[in-house]
Amino acid sequence: MSVIAAPPVDNVEKRPPLLAVDKVSIEYKTRERRVRATHQVSFDVHGADRYILLGPSGCGKSTLLKAVAGFISPTEGRIALDGKPVTGPGPDRIVVFQEFDQLPPWKTLRQNVAFPLVASRKLNRREADERAMHSLDKVGLAAFADAYPHTLSGGMKQRVAIARALAMQPRVLLMDEPFAALDALTRRRMQEELMTLWEDVRFTLLFVTHSIEEALVLGSRVLLLSPHPGRVRAELNAHAYGLHSQGSAGFQAAARRIHDLLFETQEPLGADRAGASASDAAGVRAAA
Ligand SMILES: Nc1ncnc2c1ncn2[C@@H]1O[C@H](COP(=O)(O)OP(=O)(O)OP(=O)(O)O)[C@@H](O)[C@H]1O
Ligand SMILES: [Mg+2]
Repeated sequence: MSVIAAPPVDNVEKRPPLLAVDKVSIEYKTRERRVRATHQVSFDVHGADRYILLGPSGCGKSTLLKAVAGFISPTEGRIALDGKPVTGPGPDRIVVFQEFDQLPPWKTLRQNVAFPLVASRKLNRREADERAMHSLDKVGLAAFADAYPHTLSGGMKQRVAIARALAMQPRVLLMDEPFAALDALTRRRMQEELMTLWEDVRFTLLFVTHSIEEALVLGSRVLLLSPHPGRVRAELNAHAYGLHSQGSAGFQAAARRIHDLLFETQEPLGADRAGASASDAAGVRAAA
C-alpha cells in the first residue's frame, strides 16, 4: 500500500516573500575612489505591503530602490522577485521619481499612460487606451486625458506618473520621494490619495522617504537605515498609524523614538527593549 504524504500546511509566515533583499551592499566606483552606499541590507516585502525605506540623506535609499528596479547591480548580496534573481529592469517593477519631468511633454496624459503598455506589448492600442483612461480616472484626472503635461501642476504630474505606473500593474510599485517637491498641503492630499488608491487596488509598494511622519502615515512596515553607508538599524511595524493618527500622542512618541534611533542617540534595541517598545513604536525589531 502506498503512503501519500499530507500536503504541507499553508502557513502565511512561511510563504516566500514577493521581494527579497538579502545582505545587499552597493558601491559606486568613481575615478578617484569607491563609495559604499549600502552595507549588507536585508529586508523582505510581501504582497500588499506598504514598505518604507527611511533614513537620512545619503544613506542609500535611492540606491537600494534603483537596485530593486534593476538599474544598478549589488556589489554583494542578492535581490529576488517572486524567487527569481533581479538582473535588470522589467515591467514588473515601475518607479515613480521625485522629479516632475518624468512625462514626455509631447504626449497627452492619455498617451503618456498608454505608451508603456503598448511598448511592453502588454496590451494592444485600444486596450491600452482603455486602461489609460481607467487609470487616469482613478487618480481624478480623466477630464485632463487630452491635455499635455506642461499645462499641469506638480501634484497633477505626479498623479499622472502614479496612474502610468499602476496601469502597468507591476508586482511592486517603487516610489522615490514622490511627494518631496510638493508644498505641504498638496503633499498631504497626495498621501491621502495614495492611501485611497491602495485601499482600492492593494498594490505592493516600496516607498522611499526621509520624512519620519510620511513613513508612519503611509507605511505598514518601515525599515530604518543608519547614515552613510546605509545599514539596517531596525524594522518597525507601522500598521497602527495613519493619516488619522498624525498628531496623536502615540504617533508623536513613535516619531520621536524613530528620530532617536536614526540619529543614534539611543543604542540599537536589544530583545528586551524591542518588547518594551511595542506599545510606542508598534513593535520595533532590532537589526540583526
Ligand atoms: N552615481 C553615483 N556615483 C557615486 N556616488 C554616488 C552616486 N549616486 C549616489 N552616490 C553616493 O551614494 C550614497 C547614497 O546615495 P543615495 O542617493 O542612494 O542616498 P539617499 O539616501 O537616496 O539620499 P537622499 O535622501 O538625499 O536622496 C551617497 O553617499 C552618494 O553620494
Ligand atoms: Mg534619494
